[in-house]
Amino acid sequence: MVDFNAIHNRDCIAGMNELEAGSVDLAFADPPFNIGYKYDVYDDKREAEHYLDWSKQWIAGVHRALKPTGTFWLAIGDEFAAELKLISQQIGFHCRSWVIWYYTFGVNCKKKFSRSHVHLFHLVKNAKQFTFNLKDRAVRVPSARQLVYNDGRADPDGRLPDDTWILRPQDVPFGFRETDDTWYIPRVNGTFKERAGFHGCQMPEQLLGRIIRSSSNSDELVLDPFSGSGTTLAVAKKLGRRWIGFDLSADYVARGTARLASVQVGEPLSGAPEPLVSAPSTPAQAPQKKARKSRAANPTPSLPFTADRVGAEKEADGGSARARGAGRPRKRPR
Ligand SMILES: C[S@@+](CC[C@H](N)C(=O)[O-])C[C@H]1O[C@@H](n2cnc3c(N)ncnc32)[C@H](O)[C@@H]1O
Repeated sequence: MVDFNAIHNRDCIAGMNELEAGSVDLAFADPPFNIGYKYDVYDDKREAEHYLDWSKQWIAGVHRALKPTGTFWLAIGDEFAAELKLISQQIGFHCRSWVIWYYTFGVNCKKKFSRSHVHLFHLVKNAKQFTFNLKDRAVRVPSARQLVYNDGRADPDGRLPDDTWILRPQDVPFGFRETDDTWYIPRVNGTFKERAGFHGCQMPEQLLGRIIRSSSNSDELVLDPFSGSGTTLAVAKKLGRRWIGFDLSADYVARGTARLASVQVGEPLSGAPEPLVSAPSTPAQAPQKKARKSRAANPTPSLPFTADRVGAEKEADGGSARARGAGRPRKRPR
């Protein structure tokens, strides 16, 4: 039997198969995207057939572990989104929503449109019976009736978010109007206070907050087969859920475990919870020589780029390789 409230350093398929069948309420998976990102242990550059066969196995493991009323959220990139959705449905999941998480600070491509999104599939085992906390005020957003029209008919509790989850307007000043009622979540950039600093694929806590609040209740069990920096589990703990995670990397597990030990039940999530309130700005720093040169050529303000998963796409595109340091990504397979 596998302990709860722990991250286990082992293969998730073997680990999930040791969980009691039908014991998990919510699973969130952010698997390797098979784009050549350099993890410390896992090889993220496999033959497509091999990757898809492996994906079938771990998705079947999630299906087995979930309760009959359980929910599965799957985060995946463009390369295999269609295939993994189909596999999930063939295994028995029903897709409730195909959410797009839109972010900035993404890939600066030269030969194609720049990547700025991740797919989030909201899947359930039973199409009629599943947890969806649509009344939870922390899940809801202000409506246009409230924000724009001052309409007396507005529900004071706001509305459910749309299925496109977007960065905050202050980060994309020309992309959004302040009157839009879309939900804004920044990707965890290298300079953000929230960044744990040891994993290039760290998800934002606010994104997991919406998923865990809407799809599970207090004391229920949340599973992350690919825990990485431990974001899902840290948010599950803060929100008073039980949690369990797996990761192949002993280093990620040790650091993720330390992160989990440092957070408390009831603690606020990192990042700005309120769409119209800005997160604190990054303090001004003395510009480095290269940054000064590039700023002179292009006066648009930008934050320093760190090696993360999106960098793997940049190199395949032939775009300028700004990623540097540990975790430098390799080329994405064609
Ligand atoms: C995209 S990252 C997850 C990032 C995570 N969502 C976060 O917020 O930090 C994928 C993780 O899966 C792990 N991994 C790859 N294959 C695995 C397997 N078979 N079992 C368990 N973990 C695995 C990798 O070591 C990596 O940390």
